[in-house]
Amino acid sequence: MKLNPARRIGGQLSLPGDKSISHRAALIAALATGVSHLANFSTSRDCASTLSCLQQLGVVITPDDNGWTVAGRRELVASSAPLDCGNSGSTIRMLAGVLASHDFASTLTGDESLRSRPMQRIIEPLEQMGARFDSSAGKPPFTVRGSRNLKPIRYQLPVASAQVKSCILFAGLGTEGRTEVLETASSRDHTERLFNAFGVSINTEVQESGKRVVSLEGPARFNAGKISIPGDISSAAYFIAAAVLLPESHLVINGLGLNPTRAEFLSVLRSWGANITTSDIRMECNEPIGSVVVKSGLDSSSRTDNDRRLAESMIPLLIDELPLLAILGTQISGGLEIRNARELRVKETDRLAATVQNLRAMGADVEEYDDGLAVSGPTNLRGALLDSYDDHRIAMAFAVAALIAEGPSELTRASCVDISFPEFFQLLETVVER
Ligand code: S3P
Repeated sequence: MKLNPARRIGGQLSLPGDKSISHRAALIAALATGVSHLANFSTSRDCASTLSCLQQLGVVITPDDNGWTVAGRRELVASSAPLDCGNSGSTIRMLAGVLASHDFASTLTGDESLRSRPMQRIIEPLEQMGARFDSSAGKPPFTVRGSRNLKPIRYQLPVASAQVKSCILFAGLGTEGRTEVLETASSRDHTERLFNAFGVSINTEVQESGKRVVSLEGPARFNAGKISIPGDISSAAYFIAAAVLLPESHLVINGLGLNPTRAEFLSVLRSWGANITTSDIRMECNEPIGSVVVKSGLDSSSRTDNDRRLAESMIPLLIDELPLLAILGTQISGGLEIRNARELRVKETDRLAATVQNLRAMGADVEEYDDGLAVSGPTNLRGALLDSYDDHRIAMAFAVAALIAEGPSELTRASCVDISFPEFFQLLETVVER
């Protein structure tokens, strides 16, 4: 796809529902008593994978004008065919947690990218709870044999991962007793918020050391609900970045999810002098949402050398925005260093390598580390041949980089944006002025 530079961004947007919340909403609605309605559900291909796996497991799910109706059945039924989770790490990891308390075998698989991603991180806790797994080298496809007598555990997360935390919490719904997940760094808390919204008693205790203990009592019985899913802040991030970077921009995004465990990107940009304001904050789906107004410009004059490196505790809160932040880092004085982000190597693609390659193609000065990267700034980026690596977030991040580059760029396999945000290029055209 050819991408031309832009002059400014202007206009108003509302975004489709948050992908992370939509996955969780579909899974919890499938286990609830009664019929749920999920409005403003994510339009992503990843969430479609979650819905189709649930349909294969006997859940009746039907679309209507503004969302999906999900008839909960508490007990899923075995599928003789493998469950295809597509490209979606959230689907495969959280669904495995749900299936761990079901007394049958299920085989979970996915596309080539998903089949290369690490699953030992969920296999280990679920085996401790009493589920059995067959896998080759801890990668999909794998077969999970659940148990009606799943045992609750107290589990310290070895990696800061909301998917692993949520997998264990979903499994905990089907145990007798208290499941506890300990995290040293906080990660997105949508599962906790949504369980509460559905009446599951779940608690988070923050210890003096800063460690967080998330606990729930099983077995949990809960009723269906009607919810409206907040706009996806990770999708908004690309538009916000473009508006900050292009002069004389003015962008309004309404109905956007502003959960603090997801909104760190806004805080970082503000600390770089970006003009971003929020208003009309309210609660929807037990999540804060509101309107965001972005005006162009960064002012990094008050940054010190210490501000160059992102703090380790911020990394899990920024995990999906790090490639985009690296691009923004090339535009501020002092540049940016991202470390403790080895997790990026096991996302849909190796996002550190992909970011480094593309930034270098655009003429940026980039250093690659095992666990991160560093960029100098400010630098002029030039249009280039950009590789999406078939990864939606790399494609969208570099579509933004192309807007501020000198000269046109070409982006390979741009259609992969539909994994999280099928409307991306269409909406971009509605706010871009060339
Ligand atoms: C997600 C958590 C993150 C994130 C992914 C969605 C979630 O993954 O990268 O896009 O919905 O819980 P990890 O939890 O593996 O870091």
